[in-house]
Amino acid sequence: MPGLAVNVDHVATLREARKINIPDPVTAGAIVELAGADGVVVHLREDRRHIRDRDVRLLRETVKTKLILEVAATSEMVTFALEIKPDLVTLVPEKREELTTEGGLDLHVHRDVVSDAVQELQKAEIPVSIFVDPDLDQIKHAHKINANFIEIHTGTFCEADRQKDRSEAFEKIVNSAKLAHKLKLGVNAGHGLGYQTIKAFKGLSEIDEFSIGHSIIARAVLVGLDRAVREMIALIKEL
Ligand code: PXP
Repeated sequence: MPGLAVNVDHVATLREARKINIPDPVTAGAIVELAGADGVVVHLREDRRHIRDRDVRLLRETVKTKLILEVAATSEMVTFALEIKPDLVTLVPEKREELTTEGGLDLHVHRDVVSDAVQELQKAEIPVSIFVDPDLDQIKHAHKINANFIEIHTGTFCEADRQKDRSEAFEKIVNSAKLAHKLKLGVNAGHGLGYQTIKAFKGLSEIDEFSIGHSIIARAVLVGLDRAVREMIALIKEL
C-alpha cells in the first residue's frame, strides 16, 4: 500500500493570516502522525510566507515518522537542510509570485544547480527527491543526476476539466511512474490530489507515497484533522 505524507503548510498559512502563534503547524504534525500518516511535509519558501525556520526546527525534534522538507535548490535552502537533516529533501521550483508550486523542476534548464544540490545533500546522507512533471525525459535526467526519488507532479491531471485531458494527463503519470520504478528511483506523487482524484491511482503499484496538503487541510477545517487524514488513508488502502 502506498504511504501518505501530509503537507501542513496551510496550517501555517492560517497562522500567518493573523501573524500570531496559532494554529501551530507543529501541533498539526503530531495530529497527522497520530492519525496514521507516514510523514509530515513542509515547504520552507524563500519569502517564509507560511512555514518558518522555527517550525522546521521543532518538527525535526517532534516528528516520529518522517520529516520531508520541500525547498528550492538554492544555497540558502541547502545550507538550512544540511543543518536540519530531514528524512527526505524534495527539491522544487519556486517563483515569488506563485500561489503554490506551479509545475515540476525543469531539469533541462536547471540540471547543474539541481545536481550540485543533490550531491551536497547526499554527502550528508540526506536522500533527495526531485519534483518533476510527468515527462519521461525529466525522469531520465533525475536518474542521471542520481536522485533517490522523484515526485511526480499530479496537478495537471487533478485540474483537467475535460475527460480527454484528464486521461492524457493520467497516462503520462502512469508512464512516468513505471519508468522511474524501472530505473530504481523511489516514486512519490503529489499536487492537487483530493478525495476523488486519488481513486484514479487504483492498481498503480509503482507509487511509494502520496504527498497531499490542500484537500486534507481544507477538509480538516470542517471535520477535524484527525478524521480528514484517516479518511484519506482509508481511500489509499483501497488502491
Ligand atoms: N508536492 C509538492 C512538491 C508541493 O509543492 C505541494 C504543494 O505544496 C504538494 C505536493 C501538495 O500539494 P497540495 O497542497 O495541492 O495537496
